[in-house]
Amino acid sequence: MKIITESLFQLPEVQVSEKKVKVPASLIGVFREDIKDSPHIKEISRKIHTFYERLEKSGFKGKEGDFFEIDISPDEKIAIVGFGKKDEQDWLRKENVRRASAIGLLNLRNRGFDTVQLLGFEDYEREALEGAFLGLYEFRKYREIKGQEKQEDQSGGEEEKKKIKKIYLITERKIGNLVSYVKILCEAQNFARDIVNEPGNVINPQTLAEIASAVAEKYGLGCEIFDFEQIKKMGMGGVVAVGQGSAIPPKFVHLWWKPDKKPKDRIAYIGKAITFDSGGLSLKPQQSMVTMKLDKSGACAVIAAMKVIAQIKPEVEVHGVFAACENMPSGTAQRPDDIIKIMDGKTVEVVNTDAEGRLTLIDAIAFASRLGVSKIIDLATLTGACIVALGEYTAGVMGNSEDFAWFICNLGRQLGEKMWILPFDKDLDEKLKSDFAFVKNVGDGYGGAVTAGMFMEKFVPENIEWVHLDIAGPAFLTKKIGYFQAKGGTGFGVRTLVELARRLEKGEYSSSKNKKNKNQKSKNG
Ligand code: BES
Ligand code: ZN
Ligand code: ZN
Repeated sequence: MKIITESLFQLPEVQVSEKKVKVPASLIGVFREDIKDSPHIKEISRKIHTFYERLEKSGFKGKEGDFFEIDISPDEKIAIVGFGKKDEQDWLRKENVRRASAIGLLNLRNRGFDTVQLLGFEDYEREALEGAFLGLYEFRKYREIKGQEKQEDQSGGEEEKKKIKKIYLITERKIGNLVSYVKILCEAQNFARDIVNEPGNVINPQTLAEIASAVAEKYGLGCEIFDFEQIKKMGMGGVVAVGQGSAIPPKFVHLWWKPDKKPKDRIAYIGKAITFDSGGLSLKPQQSMVTMKLDKSGACAVIAAMKVIAQIKPEVEVHGVFAACENMPSGTAQRPDDIIKIMDGKTVEVVNTDAEGRLTLIDAIAFASRLGVSKIIDLATLTGACIVALGEYTAGVMGNSEDFAWFICNLGRQLGEKMWILPFDKDLDEKLKSDFAFVKNVGDGYGGAVTAGMFMEKFVPENIEWVHLDIAGPAFLTKKIGYFQAKGGTGFGVRTLVELARRLEKGEYSSSKNKKNKNQKSKNG
């Protein structure tokens, strides 16, 4: 494959303007309570006297995602999209605006408009842009057949050729470099989606490492890639065990960003990087194996976040770490019953080779722990159980520091990445007890997301604050939802990772509170 460092999807150009512009299509966003007060809607009603009647007749109530369109004149289309209730919780209001922007723009795009002005999005400029950039995304690489561009394909053909090329964002607020920041962020998120959407016959441990290395070179990140021999030498028994069944050997990737000045903090991002998860000898049933190209989503988010970090250059040291493996059954694959030794010296009894992610992640944690970081956050499509617990669209947050876990949880939700805490429980610990090793790699049928997290916690040094995000659900969509109007990879986690570094730079999270908690925890047993 051609190694890429940018998303194949081109973002529309954005121009900010204080005053309305003359373009063929306008999209007006409005809260439910403001339908009658919106100056933009009032203006239409002055031009078309029956307007409010028609709006009411159409059933438009300003509910989130409600859409109404009208031709003011043969060359002026106006569309209105609902933001929902004004007194919704902050994070949900923002989410509704993202969705409104995406739904409205997609509708106008499908009607053939390539230039649209956004009205009524003041105070929500960031969300309007996120909705646009992420909502318009598509992955068409394997559907565009050379020389047949004009021909209808089975899934829409011509319709899908339409594109929004330019957006005028109308706002009187001074929004500084917001547009370029959101562009960098969403381009990276779409880049992560592109890589996730690439199948296992294209992205394997080798090509995933090549992508990371190309990004590092282009954007000026430190990069070291360890091959199978070096992985074995470092004692990464988890990575070896998971990678040894594949014809393509594993790669261990370390990217880093170090600021010129003394860093305000040091953090490592770790991503699960199983380029395809067949389950190994504990083979998955056919139906569960489909979509398992998604199992590298954590690493894709890490690569994308590192790409943003390289561009925004925070005064924080940031490491991106992942162990790329393909989990395959073969004569060289690890077996159930195998006992392996992790980089930190602890032993694991492998009961189920399909619980492979955690085996690679604990070696990555051991590696990251030696980099002098104070915090680790890992992103992993780790358990089906997390999807059972929280549904498809919410990530599970776990970790060894409740303060840090809640900090990440609140941060992610504000950014449109839904997540919620799953509590560790000492009473579940016995499920992981092994008769032969320090620990075994799976519990029983209950609380699978939590026991997976608790398994990993055993490999995290106490002096490091660690949060684990189980993104098995929200990393990949089999249905269009909200402003994600393309099935497949979502790039979940990119925004949270990047924003975390920015908050650490501003000193918005301090771990002193947490230390107190930790003491309390040990006092309470
Ligand atoms: N990659 C899967 C988890 C997964 C499942 C992600 C569905 C996204 C959608 C992981 O490696 C896995 O197979 N987990 C097992 C754990 C079990 C063997 C304890 C699972 O969830 O069934
Ligand atoms: Zn698995
Ligand atoms: Zn997996």
